[in-house]
Amino acid sequence: MQAGVRGESEKKEKGEIAEDVLKGLSGKPKKLPSKYLYNDEGSRLFEEIMDLKEYYPARCEFEILKDSKDELLQYLKNDHEVYVVDLGAGNGIKTFILLHYFHRRLPLKYLPIDISKLAIDEVVQKLKLKIPELQIEGINADYFEGLERLKELKDVKKLVLFLGSNIGNFNIREAIEFLNHLHKSLNKDDLVLLGFDLKKNPVTIRTAYNDSKQITEKFNFNILKRINEELGGNFDLKKFMFYPTYDPHTGEMKSFLISKESQSVYIKALDKTFSFDTWETIQTECSNKYSLDVIIDLAEKTNFQIENNFFDSNHYFVDSLWKVK
Ligand SMILES: C[S@@+](CC[C@H](N)C(=O)[O-])C[C@H]1O[C@@H](n2cnc3c(N)ncnc32)[C@H](O)[C@@H]1O
Repeated sequence: MQAGVRGESEKKEKGEIAEDVLKGLSGKPKKLPSKYLYNDEGSRLFEEIMDLKEYYPARCEFEILKDSKDELLQYLKNDHEVYVVDLGAGNGIKTFILLHYFHRRLPLKYLPIDISKLAIDEVVQKLKLKIPELQIEGINADYFEGLERLKELKDVKKLVLFLGSNIGNFNIREAIEFLNHLHKSLNKDDLVLLGFDLKKNPVTIRTAYNDSKQITEKFNFNILKRINEELGGNFDLKKFMFYPTYDPHTGEMKSFLISKESQSVYIKALDKTFSFDTWETIQTECSNKYSLDVIIDLAEKTNFQIENNFFDSNHYFVDSLWKVK
């Protein structure tokens, strides 16, 4: 990307954050979009989260991809060229399992898409070392911008990965909207592999978001640090507490930052002061946990056909393979 173009895109990104923070902190209840957790620092912290003993989703999906890579290959082996599109690729280390196995058996191109520039730069750099012959094009963009790019790829078979329970950050209405959008960006018979975290013992779920090393707490607080650094906010982090909670009825794992006292916070870029009551909440994350019935319903409503469901040995997580009808 040229310097002028990058300057423009940074300005646009800053404008979007400012707009979303204004909306999120003006709402009742207050809420910040979880995509803003992933600046450079957030992406680094998320890598640490993936290694935590309490954070089972990463381990489950590693197991699933290792065990099912050959079965997945069978769905692609007759195609002349396959584009593996990785939405919210992160550090891509789970995807490497597939790329490593597929690239000797298929003509392959890899397109990681992520809102974090650090994540994209790292995944491209790492892959160039690990699999130098693989064609790779990193795209630093929001999911929806990324999907626009997919529309340009008309005559190639696509396998879209949406791993790591990324879909769980949407509520059902948003998930349907996103999947409809995805469907429109693909061709008949294209494939999508979606990682869903399943409902399970609520204690296991809550512990995964409330780890003993408090890395997840740091990850959530990073959103306030980001507002301070990028938008000139004066959040005093000590005046907030981290509170993750799981509702086994709705399947929502929500994380909050809660104001421990009545206070005001000024954000320079918005030239606005926000008031917080004692114990007022800011929701920073919501990760929805699914039942298989809901997954089946989601596929039906958005015109996909479920081809296969790959589970880990505990049935904590499923990578569900869908085909465009
Ligand atoms: C939970 S991590 C999962 C990473 C990886 N897919 C995995 O399974 O390990 C979520 C990733 O999605 C990216 N992300 C979050 N919201 C996004 C958005 N709206 N558009 C594009 N990327 C997004 C984050 O930067 C982060 O790298």
